[in-house]
Amino acid sequence: MGQLHLSALDAASGVEAAAVADPSERVRAGATSRGLSAYASVDALLESGDAQAAIVAAPSALHLSLVERLAEAGLHVLCEKPCGTAPEETSHARDAAERGGVLLQVGFWRRFVPTLVDLRDRIHAGVFGELSAIACWQWDERPPPRAFRETSGGIVVDMGVHEFDQLRWLSGQDVDRVSGLASGVAYDDPVEGDPESVALLCSLSGGTLGIVSLGRRFSEGDSCWLEVIGTQGHERIDFMAGTDGERVFHQALISQVEAFAAAVRDRVLRGAGADDASQALRAALAGTAG
Ligand SMILES: NC(=O)c1ccc[n+]([C@@H]2O[C@H](COP(=O)([O-])OP(=O)(O)OC[C@H]3O[C@@H](n4cnc5c(N)ncnc54)[C@H](O)[C@@H]3O)[C@@H](O)[C@H]2O)c1
Repeated sequence: MGQLHLSALDAASGVEAAAVADPSERVRAGATSRGLSAYASVDALLESGDAQAAIVAAPSALHLSLVERLAEAGLHVLCEKPCGTAPEETSHARDAAERGGVLLQVGFWRRFVPTLVDLRDRIHAGVFGELSAIACWQWDERPPPRAFRETSGGIVVDMGVHEFDQLRWLSGQDVDRVSGLASGVAYDDPVEGDPESVALLCSLSGGTLGIVSLGRRFSEGDSCWLEVIGTQGHERIDFMAGTDGERVFHQALISQVEAFAAAVRDRVLRGAGADDASQALRAALAGTAG
């Protein structure tokens, strides 16, 4: 994900990559070959004074400690989702940002996909009438490495937070109750706590039904689509599909980091904040428990 953020930064306006901090020598070598400074730790990066803000794209279990360290040093932070692996961690991250007087944005990139922004505007303008249901699918081509899966919080947290944030953001409603079922199908040795596909149902605070489908293997490549059914309208959008999916993702990451840079300048957050991340994580964990 760090590499994708670097590519987005290359293309973004009003913000520039300065340095990379990563314990991996291979990653640091890649950074220096791009002309960036590279440090083995965040502490070393902070000592250099190279950066005004940071993107955290380390494994999720490290999000809180990294946000705390960066915020304490006065750097604004765009943290990858889920921004911790428990809602309390996300709240602590928010508190750390407040103490440091810095912004904390969370990387829910769907909020920067133009077709979804347009859909949300139309939902909020009442074009669909009352929303009966929103169904969201996210199926990845292949799972991340086993070591990542074991510490990512499992599929419902790792992938599901995107869908719960999307449901909240699109509908303007909170997630009330969540329950789910996991498929028993696994392509190789199952990973404890990380089934390969799940289906979740949730009720939203305004009465809308949320349906979430997640899978770690999909022959068509990384894909996301959704369907909105209202009393006065219906729409189905394949917003990430096939070879065009990468372009959509890349473009959303560019818009996301540009919005973050704008927020650093004018202190108006345009993306998801820590409270949004906390709500998405709470819903995902409720689905995991169910
Ligand atoms: N928004 C999205 O759609 C999306 C997609 C994939 C991953 N992610 C998120 O991005 C994060 C990283 O996922 P990934 O798949 O890139 O993981 P990864 O394991 O491939 O990469 C993590 C990187 O962090 C580095 N790292 C480890 N400890 C570090 C530390 N203390 N300081 C700095 N760097 C450190 C590792 O060396 C590695 O280079 C996760 O939180 C994941 O949830 C988000």
